[in-house]
Amino acid sequence: MPTHKWTKNSWRKFPAMQQPVWPAGSALEDSLKPLSQLPPLVFAGECNTLKEQLAEAVEGRAFVLQCGDCAEDFSRCTGPDIRELLKVILQMSVVLAYAGEKRVVKIGRIAGQYAKPRSSDTEVVNGVEIASYRGDMVNSPEANAEARMPDPRRMLEGYYRAAATLNLVRSFTLGGYASLDRVQAWHRASLDALPAGQKYEELVRQIWKTMNFMNAIGLDPKHNPQLNQTTLYTSHEALLLDYEEALTRMDSTSGGWYDCSAHMLWIGDRTRQLDGAHVEFLRGVKNPLGMKVGPSHNADEIKRIIERLNPENEAGRLTLITRFGADRIDSYLPQLLREIKITGHKVVWTCDPMHGNTYQNEYGQKSRKFEDILREIHSFYEIHEAEGTVPGGVHLELTGDHVTECTGGSRQLLDKHLHLNYQTNCDPRLNAEQSVELAFELAEMLTPPAR
Ligand code: PEP
Ligand code: CO
Repeated sequence: MPTHKWTKNSWRKFPAMQQPVWPAGSALEDSLKPLSQLPPLVFAGECNTLKEQLAEAVEGRAFVLQCGDCAEDFSRCTGPDIRELLKVILQMSVVLAYAGEKRVVKIGRIAGQYAKPRSSDTEVVNGVEIASYRGDMVNSPEANAEARMPDPRRMLEGYYRAAATLNLVRSFTLGGYASLDRVQAWHRASLDALPAGQKYEELVRQIWKTMNFMNAIGLDPKHNPQLNQTTLYTSHEALLLDYEEALTRMDSTSGGWYDCSAHMLWIGDRTRQLDGAHVEFLRGVKNPLGMKVGPSHNADEIKRIIERLNPENEAGRLTLITRFGADRIDSYLPQLLREIKITGHKVVWTCDPMHGNTYQNEYGQKSRKFEDILREIHSFYEIHEAEGTVPGGVHLELTGDHVTECTGGSRQLLDKHLHLNYQTNCDPRLNAEQSVELAFELAEMLTPPAR
């Protein structure tokens, strides 16, 4: 255990991977100062409630649906974009809640997912080497040297866009847009449009039947806020430590420190070094945390990071997000589950079936196959069953838009179709249809055996 005292800037004494090299001069300070004074985006009480709900997932009494963009795009911070993403998340969560018979904890990769780790600092475009795109909060995706210059003013811009996004999310989720009867109507429309829609008819019919029954006994959305309001928590990778530090505030009621840029923060697979700056920073904030774990991990190091991030073994504090790939999960997950189980650490286990299944197609696009995504989730469930551990949910990259970035799904998208609407600045996302379809497929896995 570290003996030095944590402060919101103690991370500065540790090596920080994946940080932009900001230009010399006062521009960085000119952004960080206002950021440290602007209102927090979330409040400590909300983070604590999320932690309590995640604690339920440790025991298998709740299902975690964490999903959204790989990299949010400033230019996509619009009403329709936010609405369509929310719509997909709500549709998925109703199917999953019905099938799994448990609460679905909805956490968006939204309202702040603006910074990306990259495997290489530079890339070659048309024979010229330029800096890699690191997320809209750092530089711009256009492929020229000027656009790729890190600009700290983008952090302020990111804050304002996160605030605007969260504002609309809160109005939609509290103002009636999430009403259950509305979600059912969306399902109807989705199934009509989906080539394999019929396959899921029965499930949607059962949900209707349940709702009609509830209405019949007076539990209608108009008179019961539980049926027309919901919560979508926010999350992003806590990558840009300058920004995260500036948004870190002391909660005046408990005296604890919270990173008020989002409800939940996670550490990426590339920045989770035991003695690195990211682990140092996050150990001191009281938000629920996530940590990605991929094939390059060392189980002993993971155990030590868990102890450092969650020394009190508080259930709900830490979610391990495994991302091995459909072909590799069998060789990594069972061993990791055993090692962590022996220690008695209470963690939520979720499956990120995206980052281990990325490939580059013959046209140079990054893509993922719907069937690989589903296969990794299947294996995740089977392995947990075999090991006697609890699968807590999924972590997905998706959008409410009709993009063509991942192949497969019942529309049978092929690599040669992806140019039709390939939009992502970073990783390929499931489109709205593929996301809803995935939820229906998942529903089969989650349905408890008949009593
Ligand atoms: C991500 O979630 O977008 C990401 C970069 O993941 P990982 O850290 O698992 O590679
Ligand atoms: Co990604």
